[in-house]
Amino acid sequence: MTGPSSGSLNIVVGVTGGIAAYKVVSVLRTLVLSGHDVHVVATDAALRFVGKPTLEAISRNVVNTDLYEGVSQVRHVAIGQAADLILVAPATANTIAKLAAGIADDLLGNTLLASRAPVLIAPAMHTEMWHNPATVANVALLRSRGVRFIGPISGQLTGDDSGPGRLAEPDDIVAAVLALIEVTSAERAAAAAVPVADAVPAAAAQDLAGRRVLVTAGGTREALDPVRFLGNRSSGRQGVAIAEAAHVRGAAVTLIGANLEVPVASGITVISVVSATELASAVSAAAPHADLIVMAAAVADYRPETIADRKIKKDTAGDRLTLNLVKNPDILMALGQNRGQNQLIVGFAAETEADDDALVQLARGKIRRKGCDLLVVNRVGWSTGFSTVDNAVLVINPAGDIVMEAAGSKLSLAHRILDLTV
Ligand code: CTP
Repeated sequence: MTGPSSGSLNIVVGVTGGIAAYKVVSVLRTLVLSGHDVHVVATDAALRFVGKPTLEAISRNVVNTDLYEGVSQVRHVAIGQAADLILVAPATANTIAKLAAGIADDLLGNTLLASRAPVLIAPAMHTEMWHNPATVANVALLRSRGVRFIGPISGQLTGDDSGPGRLAEPDDIVAAVLALIEVTSAERAAAAAVPVADAVPAAAAQDLAGRRVLVTAGGTREALDPVRFLGNRSSGRQGVAIAEAAHVRGAAVTLIGANLEVPVASGITVISVVSATELASAVSAAAPHADLIVMAAAVADYRPETIADRKIKKDTAGDRLTLNLVKNPDILMALGQNRGQNQLIVGFAAETEADDDALVQLARGKIRRKGCDLLVVNRVGWSTGFSTVDNAVLVINPAGDIVMEAAGSKLSLAHRILDLTV
């Protein structure tokens, strides 16, 4: 199976009235430079923050705002109908509320209501607004309808305050759009493979139908005190791509996500965990029900022996702070030792080894120790492997043979890895 090709798509970007609107200009630019046809639908409030000429110059298309312009072309529905994907960035609490309620009192509301395209929302607001029960409920409702979210992240907000509510970084928004395009293209390709007569969604490409797939993704966090943790740089992208690829291919997928930084397609059961011990419990509860287990999560090998119940203060800790760490359970090894009947187990190895032969030797040792059926090895470093859209992997079997070597988008690699398990 080859990776889906996305080509040039019609991407509608809804820009709403938040100060973070200026950051979306760089999102538009990257999408246009990636070859996509980008159409901005801005609210009146958005144009108080960024000028229409800027949005038009960067998107290379006319910017639409007014519900009563272009009535002869029925523009209030035409833009949404033509869209392959809609991104709303920044999305204010007000826009999210309107979208949840299906309110269409401006062009963006109409566009969203008239579209069947996948929707990605990048919220930006003050922490109090993001945590307000109304916003929490609206986001949950939209998620349940298949709308995806990227961010908000924690950080400096417009004033002196900081906390969750900051717009996700533009590069991460672009990466989430591109990932969503890939998922959608894969779904379309699967649907296109089905004869029109029995075009139940994606029936023919369902080579994982009937399989129960358990995927872990993300990076665990080990608390030091109420505000600090030891963590790693895994975003969860590769694991989420595997879960989404398996879902598209008909599997019943459970994803145990540790602090995921990327949205997950609807239709996948997501269990959220934070630490390695939580991940271990969730895996041991779910594993007996899985035919295929893919351990893509980056699990902390150690955790602090004690967690301070109050913030560790430097006045008390002094010039040097020693942390005592204890070993976490090796989840993958335990799965290998208690494997269910006909259960297939895929492990991951993230290595910083630069030499190719040494990398393969490390991987051979690791697959023997872990007792899994396949080991997906990728090289990681300060700027490779984590958080990136593309990846390069090799896969070895218990005999130590390299059974696959590939580079490409994380979704295309996800399909290549799953091909080995069919
Ligand atoms: N893993 C796990 N439990 C742990 C650590 C890792 O299940 N406590 C899993 C990971 O999900 C991955 C595989 O083991 O599938 C390899 O993880 P990696 O971090 O590369 O290896 P380590 O076990 O940490 O070994 P080393 O310290 O030698 O790198």
